[in-house]
Parts: sequence; C-alpha cells; structure tokens
Amino acid sequence: MITLDLSKAKLNEDLESYKDTVKDIHEMIHNKTGAGNDFLGWVELPKNYDKAEVELIKETAIKLREKTDILLVCGIGGSYLGARAAIEAINGLFPANDVEIIYVGNTFSSNYIKQVSDYLEGKDFAINVISKSGTTTETSIAFRIFKEMCEAKYGKEGAKERIVATTDKARGALKTLATEEGYTTFVIPDDVGGRYSVLTPVGLFPIAMAGIDIDKMLSGAKDAMVKYANPDLDQNDAYKYGVARQILHKAGYAAEMFVTYELQLAMVAEWWKQLYGESEGKENKGILPTSATFSTDLHSLGQFIQEGSKVLFETIMQIKEPAGDMTIPSDKDDLDGLNYLAGKSVDYVNKQACQGTIDAHVNTGNVPNILITLDKMDAYGFGYMVYFFEISCAMSVYLLEVNPFNQPGVEIYKKNMFKLLGKPGY
Ligand code: PA5
Repeated sequence: MITLDLSKAKLNEDLESYKDTVKDIHEMIHNKTGAGNDFLGWVELPKNYDKAEVELIKETAIKLREKTDILLVCGIGGSYLGARAAIEAINGLFPANDVEIIYVGNTFSSNYIKQVSDYLEGKDFAINVISKSGTTTETSIAFRIFKEMCEAKYGKEGAKERIVATTDKARGALKTLATEEGYTTFVIPDDVGGRYSVLTPVGLFPIAMAGIDIDKMLSGAKDAMVKYANPDLDQNDAYKYGVARQILHKAGYAAEMFVTYELQLAMVAEWWKQLYGESEGKENKGILPTSATFSTDLHSLGQFIQEGSKVLFETIMQIKEPAGDMTIPSDKDDLDGLNYLAGKSVDYVNKQACQGTIDAHVNTGNVPNILITLDKMDAYGFGYMVYFFEISCAMSVYLLEVNPFNQPGVEIYKKNMFKLLGKPGY
C-alpha cells in the first residue's frame, strides 16, 4: 500500500546502525514506558476503537445528512485538520451533490466568521463542535455565534437535533454545555492527543458526514497497524522513514518539505505539518516541517529549492493511481504545439513532471529526496497513510529524545492573549 524509496535520500549514515535503538524505542512505544506514555491510545486504536460508538457515528451521520445541506465543523488544530485532510483528499475540492462542509472555529478572523455567517443566510445547516479541552477560544467563540444562529433559525429544540458535540467524556465547558443542552455527544479518548485523533470521533463524524466510508478508513489503518508492528528496522518502512529524516537532520538539514503533486492533498500536508511540528519542535530541537504542492509551487518555490541555500530535504508523497484523469485532446492546427502529448493522460504528464523534478533537485540541486508512494488515496488508503505517519513520527521524535505527545509551547501565546483580553484569573 505504501512504498518507501531511500535511494535518493543521500544518507551519510547506515540505517543498520540504528537497528538496536529502533527496537528499544519500538518496545517503549508498545509497552508504554516512554515519555508521554499516557497518550499512546492511538497505537492500537484501529483494533481497540469503540465499535458501538462508530456505529452511532454512522447512524447519526445518515440521519443528519438527510436533514442538512451544510455541516459546520467547528474546531482547530488536531480537532479539525485530520477531518479536513481526509474529506478534501478523498472527495476532492468540488464534491458533487453532497453535504457541503465548512470549517469554522479555527480562526479569530472577523472577516472569515462574518463571511460564513452571511453565506449561511437562508441555507440549511448543522454543526459539529469539536474540542477535547472544551475551552479553546477560537472554537468557543465561533460555536457561540453559530449556535445562536442555529437556535434563531430552528428554535432551541430544532437546534438540538442539528448540533453534535465531540469532546472529553467528563471534563470541560463544552461537555457541561452539551450535557445541559442535550446534544448528541461523541467522546475523545483520554489517551489520544489532538494531532493523533483523526481516527477517533474527532475525524470520523465529519468524515462520515461527507459520505466517506469510515469502516474502510479504519480497516486501512488496521492493516497498517499490523504491517508496522514489526520491531525489525529492515522490515519496517515507517521506522525507516523516521530514522532517515533524523539522519538528514544530523547531517545539517533544518527543514523537511512535504511535497505532493495533487492540489487536493494540501490539507494532508497541513495535517502532516502539525503531526511532526507539534510532536518534535521542543527543547530547541526538531526539523521545521514545511510543504509544497507541485507542480504549482515549482513556479514559486522551485528556484529556491533548486539553487537556494541547502537547508531542506524533500519528502515526496506520490499517489500511484489518481482518482480522476483526462486525456489531452489532439488539435488539427496544433497552434500551441502540444500535439506531441495528444492521447496522453494528464496524470502521465504529472508523473513525468515528478520524475523530472526529482532528478533536477537530487542530481543537479543536491537536495536529498525521500520518496513515499501510496497506491490510492481512497478511504482505505487515507487510513493506512495516517497510521504510517503516526507511528513513524513517534519513532522519529523518540530518536531525538523528545516527548512526542505534549505541546507545552502552545500555551504561552494563550496566556498573553488572555491577559490582554482581561480573562478572569490572568
Ligand atoms: O494537537 C493538539 O493538541 C492541538 O492541536 C489541539 O488539537 C488544538 O489546540 C485544539 O484543542 P481542543 O481540541 O482542546 O480544542
């Protein structure tokens, strides 16, 4: 399902020398003995997930899909990136005849919130508010605004049937509010942190609302869980990727650019950036996660990558089989000189662009490339990919001797902001 090619990664160390350390870290992850071990619920989640809750997610989504044209997904960071990545990657950027998904609660931009509220005028909508802590300010403000709109439109009782809350099982303001109002509520497991939560109700409910088969997604993740449970580095491509990026970091590369060749994978890159950036960037350590979509960004960033300072390596994620394709037509006049491509598919051109760019960046530009190929970006493939990156991230970050599962740094701006806003207690 996923293949890894390190032949163009220009590694200056032998993977073999990491074999024993990788085995030790593998045991640490699976026996939950390392730093942050309270947050390892994702490791066996594809097997241990709450089956009854997943059934309820599917039933609730079927009912709500009949009732609404729009779903507002209200959440930020780990409470929305995975769902958005899945929905855009699988359904594309112009999904036909389906529930329209709009993301709110992920910004303080007054322009954006006002535009969404104007757009909703006269339209049918429902809300899924998602927050593990139940107190995130971006999400709480948006939810207060859109809940009020929902109640004004459908009445208190009607709104109750259109609002679904995904939060902690017992704690937080959102849990209190959801219980008080009688909303359908899904639980975020205690032992799964935000950036590892896409395969919990955090991601599964919005993904099901978008008409995507969540059983297939979980089965992809489960197959990956089995595949990458092998402690032997020689046999485990997820671990090899985790090791390779640390070898490159040790060799002096400060940044990793995650590259795809599909516009609808831009949010997968955003999800990946959070996963690696928030897991690794602490104690003044870590690789800066960046991203680009080629060939689009070859026309903006390509020059820097090819000839600029050698600060980055690329991780290229290719999709073997595109979900859609078109044939380039022949033209009798050939004024644009494109007839040499007539009859070829656009994906064929995309793949040649990819090969040509890898060659240019690696051989001429001296930029190391890690190549990852996913067979197909469908529900199954997405689930498989999520697990691949989650387990490789844990391995890679533990190799750096950092706790992959906390994020102490994100509290500092919040404290300053609360003080400026006059929040009681700050
Ligand atoms: O990974 C994380 O922990 C964060 O990105 C959170 O998901 C994000 O801050 C949202 O938090 P919450 O779900 O508590 O609203």
